Amino acid sequence: MNRTAAACATVIGIVVSVGLQAAEAGTTGDAKKGAKLFEKANCAGCHPGGGNAIDPQHPLKGSKFASAFKDDAKIESLVRSGVKGTAMPAFSKAKLSDSDLKDIIAYIRTLTPKTSR
Ligand code: HEC
Repeated sequence: MNRTAAACATVIGIVVSVGLQAAEAGTTGDAKKGAKLFEKANCAGCHPGGGNAIDPQHPLKGSKFASAFKDDAKIESLVRSGVKGTAMPAFSKAKLSDSDLKDIIAYIRTLTPKTSR
């Protein structure tokens, strides 16, 4: 590779990594706001501290949860549809906006330290 090509590759690398960071910032919620919304939307009523008061087998934290719900999209669709036949209600967009749900998911992610995922 000549010097121009190397310089080009460096510039492309920087542009790509900045772009990725921006994309990530756009898709991640605000965990601090999420903690408040978790109370407000009454998730905390059934999931105190991210646990599960009704069905302790289904907490919102821990390595089992983290591996079953690797994708935020999976949490999102579960919360949107609820779990039929259980106490987990469906939260429509009227009840909980997309951005509020993103914040709540960001908060849920803080409950499981990265090291135990
Ligand atoms: C009335 C009680 C209740 C409320 C309110 C509630 N949940 Fe749940 N949630 C449950 C129960 C019970 C389950 C277990 C369902 C099952 O058996 O699969 C559950 C399961 C879940 C799961 C899947 C966990 C797993 O390991 O399968 C997620 C994620 C979740 N709830 C998020 C939320 C969020 C976010 C909110 C607030 C927006 C919320 N829940 C509000 C009762 C509730």
